[in-house]
Amino acid sequence: MSAVVIVGAQWGDEGKGKIVDIYTEFAEVVVRYAGGPNAGHTLVVGDEKLIVRLLPSGILRRETLCVLGQGMVVDPQVLVGEIDELRRRGHENVEERLLLSERAHLILPYHIELDSLRESSAPQDRAIGTTKKGIGPAYEDKVRRTGIRAGELRDLDRLAQRVAAALEAWAPTMKALGGRVPEVSEIIEPLRPLAARLVPLLGNASVVTEEAIRSGKRVMLEGAQGTLLDVDHGTYPFVTSSSAVAGGAAIGAGIGPNRISTVLGITKAYTTRVGSGPFPTELDDEDGKHLQKVGDEFGSVTRRPRRTGWLDLPALRYAARVNGIDGLALTKLDVLTGLEKVKVCVAYDTPQGRVTDLPIDQLDDERVRPVYEELEGWTENLEGARVLEQLPPAARNYVRFLEEGAGVPVYLVSVGPSRAATIVLHNPFVGRAAAP
Ligand code: GDP
Ligand code: IMO
Ligand code: MG
Repeated sequence: MSAVVIVGAQWGDEGKGKIVDIYTEFAEVVVRYAGGPNAGHTLVVGDEKLIVRLLPSGILRRETLCVLGQGMVVDPQVLVGEIDELRRRGHENVEERLLLSERAHLILPYHIELDSLRESSAPQDRAIGTTKKGIGPAYEDKVRRTGIRAGELRDLDRLAQRVAAALEAWAPTMKALGGRVPEVSEIIEPLRPLAARLVPLLGNASVVTEEAIRSGKRVMLEGAQGTLLDVDHGTYPFVTSSSAVAGGAAIGAGIGPNRISTVLGITKAYTTRVGSGPFPTELDDEDGKHLQKVGDEFGSVTRRPRRTGWLDLPALRYAARVNGIDGLALTKLDVLTGLEKVKVCVAYDTPQGRVTDLPIDQLDDERVRPVYEELEGWTENLEGARVLEQLPPAARNYVRFLEEGAGVPVYLVSVGPSRAATIVLHNPFVGRAAAP
């Protein structure tokens, strides 16, 4: 019995898509457990590059069942668009392999409108820098108990009544922000053709996932965003609105926490962040530009430039703790090639003295400063490496330093965007494995 969680250990975009795609070779089912189309997970297979936002990253494996779990917020238009894009690209049996949890919440046009209005009217120091995909308002509707669930697409007349109630609840906010409250029919009519496409995909994701695990199938639980964007454990309030951490996987997939056998954390060899909020190791110099340019650090969803900075070991240890990370996948090591020296944050100086834990609730205090250790860089191109021994000594030393500093073993090192550019040290499904 094995269900493996893939969780972002930083502020998102760690390369989760690639890692899920790699390990899905060994899994029969992939369940996305949180978030919505704020995610952009990049898959590079041969000459093909695909960015999925709602579809689980197992979608390019023809045999894999892909489940959109109940922890997600799903924009019907985006989902149908993604399915059609895959069909256009010649991928077969996509819909046959998809299951949409009837309990996942829907993102409807008023959520997107509210997200945009709020972001553009907030004073600069309070804007979150959201993806404006309606994520926050959709999750707010869920906890306010005015949300619409995917299963309700089966009966659009009833759904119309529930939308009317939601619009009534949102109307004062909409008006205060200068927005227009839409008519119910403006929401329902465009939904008809989308509902016709999505109703056949509906099902009980909890039952399907539990049965898969019980019958010995291997299940991957795919996270979105990252630990530091988690609504409880992130850099609040500059976070997303879902439980991105590994604990969210049980809730979002509808299984018990004891079904999870391994938690795999994904971290870049450095750090990036899109949107506002504290980022202590952020760089504003030539090294930062190197990371952005060589790492092609532009948001997969919004194309916004990602902020870049050095690796933060206290943050990684924090992520290891709140997720229970068993092993790490280290991505984008190749991007550090060409830097003379590579710095790593190992501790923080705070008004209370030097600490090695992440002072997460003090990060906006300018007296809280990262303490760095400097390591030798390297100049060799890493993309062809398939075993650790093929990495130059300085790069191997970096991996070892990270492993020791994080207190967690490295299971995989990624040295390029493609499936092939990977060093697999440990496979959580089958033990030791050769590189794919
Ligand atoms: P996700 O949201 O965690 O799935 O990550 P994204 O797909 O948003 O961003 C990761 C980016 O890095 C994508 O453009 C990937 O193609 C790319 N990528 C992943 N692993 C590597 C790697 O090891 N090296 C390089 N150079 N790029 C990588
Ligand atoms: P993946 O799954 C990086 C960030 C936004 C913003 C904050 C809140 O590709 O790693 P939201 O639209 O969720 O209300 O925005 O969270 N954010 C991400 N940053 N990768 C993501 O997803 C993100 N999803 C949301 O930039 O700062
Ligand atoms: Mg991404």
